Amino acid sequence: KPLPLDGLQVLVTAGPTQEAMDPVRYLTNHSTGKMGYAIAEAARDLGAQVTLVSGPVALDEPTGLEVRHVTSAQQMFDAVTEHFATADLTIMAAAVGDFRVAEVANDKIKKNGRTSITLELVANPDILAWAGSHKKADGSQALCGFAMEINAAKKLAHKHCDMLVANNLRDPGAGFATDTNIVTVMTPANNATGAPNIEHWEKMDKHELAERLLIKLAAIRLSNLGQSPDDQT
Ligand code: C5P
Repeated sequence: KPLPLDGLQVLVTAGPTQEAMDPVRYLTNHSTGKMGYAIAEAARDLGAQVTLVSGPVALDEPTGLEVRHVTSAQQMFDAVTEHFATADLTIMAAAVGDFRVAEVANDKIKKNGRTSITLELVANPDILAWAGSHKKADGSQALCGFAMEINAAKKLAHKHCDMLVANNLRDPGAGFATDTNIVTVMTPANNATGAPNIEHWEKMDKHELAERLLIKLAAIRLSNLGQSPDDQT
């Protein structure tokens, strides 16, 4: 029986990044990787060939897909740039650190009687924005990003995404470390108003959400290619 994502290459980023300060300390965030792993596993189950670029997480290693383990945002960027050209669908669910420590200390930073120290941070590459500006012109690559705020409409346009999933962390049952998510799904305007299309999806399990996001992104790709889902059969 044919599966909805048969023959497609799917690239997913997941989890947090860690930005080293010294050999024993780092800056990070609360991402668990659950959403990204659910997407990678759903893509596999829907018939795709999947590459998962994962920051450090405590989740079981999925089988039946390629997992690239990375630590820092720069390493995640390098892995994505290596795999992006062959990806038909790319979903960036990682919580990438926007900044890294400018100069990582070779030795553990000591207190030395100081009451404060200053750590200089420099911007990391925006991986999603990079991908958005490197999509093939033929419409064969569909790109989906995640954002926390509801005013994510700007991001959709700025980062040249075909779909942007916004979750409101204030809603119970949404966001980091939960098994469910409540999202708003935005897609670019296809009408004269220029306003993005906005759908509010009900609270659902991250696995069901993953599957629905992938099916929607695959349909967007076909429509960008000028095909309808029925043309495939
Ligand atoms: O701009 P903001 O960080 O809110 O955008 C979130 C989206 O951008 C997520 O899809 C995240 O994976 C991606 N992102 C990225 N590289 C960064 C920052 C965010 O890929 N440096």
